[in-house]
Amino acid sequence: MLGECFIYLCAMPLKNDLILKAANGEKVPRTPVWLMRQAGRILPEYRAVREKLGSFKELVETPELAAEVTIQPVDILNVDAAIIFSDILVIPEAMGLRYQMIEKKGPYFPKIVGNAGDLSGINTIEGEELSYVYRAIEITKSELNGRVPLIGFAGAPWTIFAYMTEGSGSKTFSKARRFLYQQPDTAHKLLEMLTESIIRYLKLQIKAGADMVQIFDSWAGILTPHHYRQFSLKYLDRIASSISEVPLTIFAKGAWFALEDIGKLDCNTIGLDWNVDPKDATRILPGKTLQGNLDPCVLYADNEDIIRETNKMLDGFKGQAHIANLGHGVYPDTDPEKVRIFIETVKEYSISNQIAK
Ligand code: CP3
Repeated sequence: MLGECFIYLCAMPLKNDLILKAANGEKVPRTPVWLMRQAGRILPEYRAVREKLGSFKELVETPELAAEVTIQPVDILNVDAAIIFSDILVIPEAMGLRYQMIEKKGPYFPKIVGNAGDLSGINTIEGEELSYVYRAIEITKSELNGRVPLIGFAGAPWTIFAYMTEGSGSKTFSKARRFLYQQPDTAHKLLEMLTESIIRYLKLQIKAGADMVQIFDSWAGILTPHHYRQFSLKYLDRIASSISEVPLTIFAKGAWFALEDIGKLDCNTIGLDWNVDPKDATRILPGKTLQGNLDPCVLYADNEDIIRETNKMLDGFKGQAHIANLGHGVYPDTDPEKVRIFIETVKEYSISNQIAK
């Protein structure tokens, strides 16, 4: 009975599938819009849920509440997609490296991977370790009731590697980068394990109901182009060729130097940060759907400036399939009213320019 119900829910037609159509390069009546890090960072309604619990991790691991905060931006901000509330660091934890989320500071790993010996406690995940994420996806899908698609996600192998070797956030990630020069073979061993784990994890998110998936390579921009090809792109390529069930987005922040190579990956959508001029992106990446790329700081400006900058960004992507977003996650102290102006501006933008591939 439960099984039947689940199948029925999965098969529920979406009332708003603009983002999936745009990802597939199909014609859409207007540009779809959502925000990276829309769940959790800016809404008072999120903080109310968060305060009921002892920690961020408890929220991530409580499927009913993770589903509730996933849906909040759909109800409150009217975005065209939900993104499952979780974190990229659930993967290293499931592989055997526990992390803590320190209030107002960020992630901290009491033990790091510093050498080949440290790999002994690290395993490729089977997938089932993260059943709380799949349960949160099932509940979210059921509660969304087909209103908008649900995006699943994972960190890129390189970005997760950076946290596992550095032990926390960092301005330079010099421990993580040093590792690549001093212990390249061990680095590849860990990246291999991460890649396999991420593929299994994404496939199980899709099985649970994720309508599309995104890879966050947030620390792409700190590598040399040569190291990026060797230690990141190679593994992104393997992930992209393994995921064909739903549209895939690759967001590699700061990797403007590798856009042409990223364009060769078997993914539908390429996320762009604000360092990339939309005009250059459309030239370098014809035939791909592009996502982004307003500077998140535009949302601190006056309303008229937000409208002007958003329209300018939309003009820049004219003629190519586009999903509007910021160039990185929305900053925590952004006024939700400003976010609403951004979203409304995208929705009102004349869409006669969206073309099918
Ligand atoms: O997009 C969404 O809204 C879904 C939820 C989501 C979170 N983290 C929740 C979160 C997503 C997609 C992430 C991805 C993530 N996590 C990335 C890649 C995207 C990016 O921003 O570059 C990275 C690098 C992380 C690692 C991480 N998690 C850091 C560095 C921090 C601390 C600083 C911060 O971003 O807030 C986190 C904590 C975190 N992840 C919070 C949330 C809502 C804040 C924790 C809290 O509420 O106390």
